[in-house]
Amino acid sequence: MNLLLLIRFADGIGGPGETALLQMTVSDDRIVDGCRKNCRKWGEEEKIIMIDGRIYNFSAGPSMLPEPVLLRIRDELLNCGGSGMSVLEMSHRSKVYDDIINTAADNVRKIMSVPDNYRVLFLHGGATGMFAAIPMNLGTVSGTADYVISGNFSGGAHKEAKKYLREARVAATSEADGFTHIPRQEELALSPEADYVHVCWNNTIFGTKYSYVPETSGVPLVADMSSSIMSEPVDVSKFGVIYAGVQKNLAPAGLTLVIVREDLIEEREAMPVTPKIWNFRMEADKNSMLNTPPTFPIYVVKLVTDYLMEQGGLEAMRKRNVEKAKLLYDYLDSQDFYKTAVNKEDRSMMNVVFRTASEELDREFVAGQAARGFSNLKGHRLVGGMRASIYNAMPKEGVEALIGYMKDFAAAH
Ligand SMILES: Cc1ncc(COP(=O)(O)O)c(C=O)c1O
Repeated sequence: MNLLLLIRFADGIGGPGETALLQMTVSDDRIVDGCRKNCRKWGEEEKIIMIDGRIYNFSAGPSMLPEPVLLRIRDELLNCGGSGMSVLEMSHRSKVYDDIINTAADNVRKIMSVPDNYRVLFLHGGATGMFAAIPMNLGTVSGTADYVISGNFSGGAHKEAKKYLREARVAATSEADGFTHIPRQEELALSPEADYVHVCWNNTIFGTKYSYVPETSGVPLVADMSSSIMSEPVDVSKFGVIYAGVQKNLAPAGLTLVIVREDLIEEREAMPVTPKIWNFRMEADKNSMLNTPPTFPIYVVKLVTDYLMEQGGLEAMRKRNVEKAKLLYDYLDSQDFYKTAVNKEDRSMMNVVFRTASEELDREFVAGQAARGFSNLKGHRLVGGMRASIYNAMPKEGVEALIGYMKDFAAAH
């Protein structure tokens, strides 16, 4: 096992507050414990920042998965559920797989308290696929919809919808302030004739998130929750559709989770042009198996949701995520070496964006990440600076280690 230890020296050993990195190869857990004890003697603080070559991956997606889930996948990889075959090799029509997909859907229902009049679908094409599938399935009454543009992905959803709708209106946009805030209710120019209102719940690139549910006077609210799904409880009954690419908080890429209110698929006809694999009614009738579904990501959704339930469900996730995000934002607010432009009320718990005073320093900060056991801290090219994506699977220790690096970097510059 490879260990990377970060030691912050106490008085009289190194300079107080100085840090050192130690790398060592050890053979079992008892030696890891011994290392921790010895490190405590040398330093006032010690952190194991990397075990077995695994690092803190701050990627915006695909992103970290809970380690117990990865280990379970490893354990079951050759023989899944006593079937004598890997889930990677398994027919989606088999009994074992039937249990997997049904349990995954049941778990989603339980963990998100999905009301009975909603269907849970597992579809192809990522969240981007839904940018087209939403207007195709829902935009058939007046042929119009209202889009709230709060960042890149809601802009992309709007652009795609224009291909299919008679009119895709912009109900509000925060482009003028560089998408640093979420448009408030009073900024929304909503039309009662709209077939739906579309929002992006958490803006992965700009680091903002809704802190209120828009009032749409009965018009179905559709939310892209790709980067915040299952990070905290949401009241599903307030939405017509919730959809999410699963590759941030739930599973590997290749699957879209769609939660849709039944009347929207029973009372509306999808556009004739709709590919059948994105026709919500047809997929609901076929239990998301109109064709071969993304079997492996669905299996991982089952394992991740099992794990989330064991951990105490979405209230427990919210508590952890609030704590992690608070650590990082409190640090950002306490100093002036790093800045974050995001409006305080709209700060994302999942994607924390920040920068130094210069692009050169930003580059140096990002270049130093690997030596501290981190990856993917570079901000999106549209924003620059840095971004730490701290989804459910990022442990608090990862955030603490990042803050340690931020402090050391600031002190050294
Ligand atoms: C909020 C949001 N919506 C949509 C997308 C696009 O997702 P996909 O790559 O699954 O199409 C992303 C991807 O990062 C995202 O963060």
